[in-house]
Amino acid sequence: MNYNRTHPFLAKIKERYPLTQSGSTKSTFHCTLDITGSGLTYKSGDSLGIYAPNDPLFVERILQAFKLDPSTPVLHPRTGGSFTLKSYLETQANLSRVTTSLLRSFYPNPEDKTVSSMDVLDLALRFRHQPFDLTEFISNLSPLLPRFYSVASSQALHPHEVHLLVTLTTFQHGNEKRYGVASHFLCHRARENETPIPCYVHPTHHFTLPADSTTSLIMIGPGTGVAPYRAFLQERMYQNATGKNWLFFGERNRKTDFYYEEYWKGLQEQNQLILDLVFSRDQAHKIYVQHRLLEKGAQVWEWLEKGALFYVCGDADPMAKEVEAAVLQICTTQGRLSQDAAKAYLRKLRQEKRYLTDVY
Ligand SMILES: Cc1cc2nc3c(=O)[nH]c(=O)nc-3n(C[C@H](O)[C@H](O)[C@H](O)COP(=O)(O)OP(=O)(O)OC[C@H]3O[C@@H](n4cnc5c(N)ncnc54)[C@H](O)[C@@H]3O)c2cc1C
Ligand SMILES: NC(=O)c1ccc[n+]([C@@H]2O[C@H](COP(=O)([O-])OP(=O)(O)OC[C@H]3O[C@@H](n4cnc5c(N)ncnc54)[C@H](OP(=O)(O)O)[C@@H]3O)[C@@H](O)[C@H]2O)c1
Repeated sequence: MNYNRTHPFLAKIKERYPLTQSGSTKSTFHCTLDITGSGLTYKSGDSLGIYAPNDPLFVERILQAFKLDPSTPVLHPRTGGSFTLKSYLETQANLSRVTTSLLRSFYPNPEDKTVSSMDVLDLALRFRHQPFDLTEFISNLSPLLPRFYSVASSQALHPHEVHLLVTLTTFQHGNEKRYGVASHFLCHRARENETPIPCYVHPTHHFTLPADSTTSLIMIGPGTGVAPYRAFLQERMYQNATGKNWLFFGERNRKTDFYYEEYWKGLQEQNQLILDLVFSRDQAHKIYVQHRLLEKGAQVWEWLEKGALFYVCGDADPMAKEVEAAVLQICTTQGRLSQDAAKAYLRKLRQEKRYLTDVY
């Protein structure tokens, strides 16, 4: 069987442990997925697509608000597959977003600003007494989409495992603290060695290791952006790659949010890694990876001139944009290029696939 986006493999979580320490202002977990027997293959830089079901308690609240029977049979509006109403809402429907067509079917004035941030539970609570057509309701829900997680392991070292670093997404919805669907599933709801995790490999075509293992790497990875570099470095150690490795990692607090501290420090002690750390909330003013990059501008320029690859992973905006601005500044200050020449230099790096980004 070839597992893919339409036929995901059902993996199990073999091991899960927190990467943040008690007292942290966020919650991040390492998850090892067991992919034994799947035939799944991945390379460093790839992501895993995960189909995470909605929280059954959330679905229960919607069913109760509308006074619907969870076992009502329903047909998938696109595939024609048979489901119970409960399993359809858990596995197929995006309950975080109310589509315009769904809203229109209940509400005459969808331009009303008070309804723009509604989710399906809000809708159910607001229109709990209004009769509606269940088939139309189902077909007006948008589909539940997979979420992606950068693979944090090398398959050369872990042939039957995929390692992930997952930060729990939390946000305030009205008076309630809410969790992101997939991160909550992976960090809390899925039971180790029990709950099936529908997944498939989402290959990258651009965020890959160089074929020449003598090439040096500069890796920028604040927050979750550090995940693929664990895979890169595991692979480089396995290959006995002689190219140098330089990682810029940033998080909130050193004491609680230094993910995989022992692994990076071990590599540093073996002279396999240059590690630059920035903890944004350990002092009164914010320090981010791009500030450290600028401080080390002379060496960064030297590495780039000697052919190093430059990787950026994590938050797309503003982090990746500000890192790019820092690189341009290094080109002008250290390389003594004009603004236009610096832009051309960066363009060339991209064309030569030496400035590589995986941002979200
Ligand atoms: C290529 C790629 C690689 C990735 N790699 C990783 C990785 O290695 N590790 C990792 O943890 N993540 C990674 N992500 C992010 C990951 O895919 C998910 O987007 C993330 O986990 C949130 O998904 P969720 O289902 O938990 O949250 P969702 O259920 O998608 O929640 C997001 C929803 O919650 C609401 N929301 C979220 N945040 C807020 C907020 N601050 N304020 C108000 N409302 C908010 C919004 O309504 C939003 O639609 C990656 C993404 C991509 C594209
Ligand atoms: N709502 C949530 O609970 C939640 C949780 C995790 C992730 N997310 C979202 O997921 C995405 C990635 O999250 P993440 O965990 O990888 O990282 P993140 O939580 O956004 O940040 C990781 C580190 O990067 C710092 N940072 C903030 N702004 C930056 C900038 N402009 N340039 C460089 N560094 C910056 C953060 O500092 P400071 O935070 O101290 O400014 C923190 O030290 C973000 O879009 C984030 O909004 C949301």
